[in-house]
Amino acid sequence: MKKLISLLLVLAMALALVACGASEPAATEAPKADAPAAAPEAPAAEVTTYDVGVAIYQYNDNFMTLYRQEIEAYFKTLETDTVKYNVTMVDSKNDMAEQTNQIDTFITQGMDVIILNLVQTSSAEVLIDKVVAAGIPCILINREPLGDNGDESYPGIINNPTVCYVGADARQSGTMQGNLILALDNKGDLNGDGVVKYIMVIGDPENPDAQYRTEKSIQAMTDAGVAVECLVENVGNWDQTKGQEITAAALAQFGDEIEVVFCNNDGMALGAAASIEAAGRVVGEDIYLVGVDAIPEAIELIKNGAMTGTVLNDHIGQSHAAVDAAVAALNGEELQNYYWVDYVMVDAAYVAAN
Ligand code: BGC
Repeated sequence: MKKLISLLLVLAMALALVACGASEPAATEAPKADAPAAAPEAPAAEVTTYDVGVAIYQYNDNFMTLYRQEIEAYFKTLETDTVKYNVTMVDSKNDMAEQTNQIDTFITQGMDVIILNLVQTSSAEVLIDKVVAAGIPCILINREPLGDNGDESYPGIINNPTVCYVGADARQSGTMQGNLILALDNKGDLNGDGVVKYIMVIGDPENPDAQYRTEKSIQAMTDAGVAVECLVENVGNWDQTKGQEITAAALAQFGDEIEVVFCNNDGMALGAAASIEAAGRVVGEDIYLVGVDAIPEAIELIKNGAMTGTVLNDHIGQSHAAVDAAVAALNGEELQNYYWVDYVMVDAAYVAAN
């Protein structure tokens, strides 16, 4: 709970007050025993410490590692002499039962605000209900629970003024992945047969980010009149090793037929890049590879030509927006239902210019 601690801002100074410009007392003048020994005590300053609980779906995730580190760093920058944030961050280890226990513990501990990166959006309601019943504001991040129509009208968010979602619109990232391929002279059709053959490496299929990226990347291509054919669609759960395995298996099966590798995130694209290289294929020459996130390792690959492009999933913008929303809630301000941060298309030219 919020703690109010009284501190003395200024230590009493054991100096007698001497009027400005007053001359030294005469040597003969006896010191006054009852002269004031100290300046009047400064008013005590109050330090408010807010307890913040943060549950991250899984620490072992390239993107969420950058995101969670920035949450902690940004809270620090907002501290002042009188406001402190005591951040307790926990790893939910991709385990919904574990996360439920962690939220129960946060509630028992009396957190002032909770930032929640859900393990499963299907469990959003249960957790939101608990947090709301405890009177604690709840900032959902990264994994968006969708409304009944698959849109931004999740009842637990729109009906609770102390609950909000901070994220990026995954549809945008999917469309940008498609646009990265469309921007190529051959629009991805390396062998010129009129059909772009691709593989899709999917994140966590329960996560709207994965669903929308899978759908919208291809929709961008077909909307532009490009014919496509999916050779392999496989779940890599955002994981680098799985991305590597899926791509290696697909390359072994389909070889030169594969023209584009779409990965729902950069973590899996790093794995795909390793398999592409191991198979003796060359990105930009006989295959294309796109991801999402713009993590530093992917930027390096783009610089070296080993990835065609990615989409910046702005972890700095999102973590700051989440913390700002948490602080607004702590200050008793009204929250919006949703806070959106834009994605940005990242190709070799962007990397060279930034
Ligand atoms: C990121 C992935 C990450 C996932 C975690 C997505 O927005 O693109 O890299 O694994 O969030 O939920």
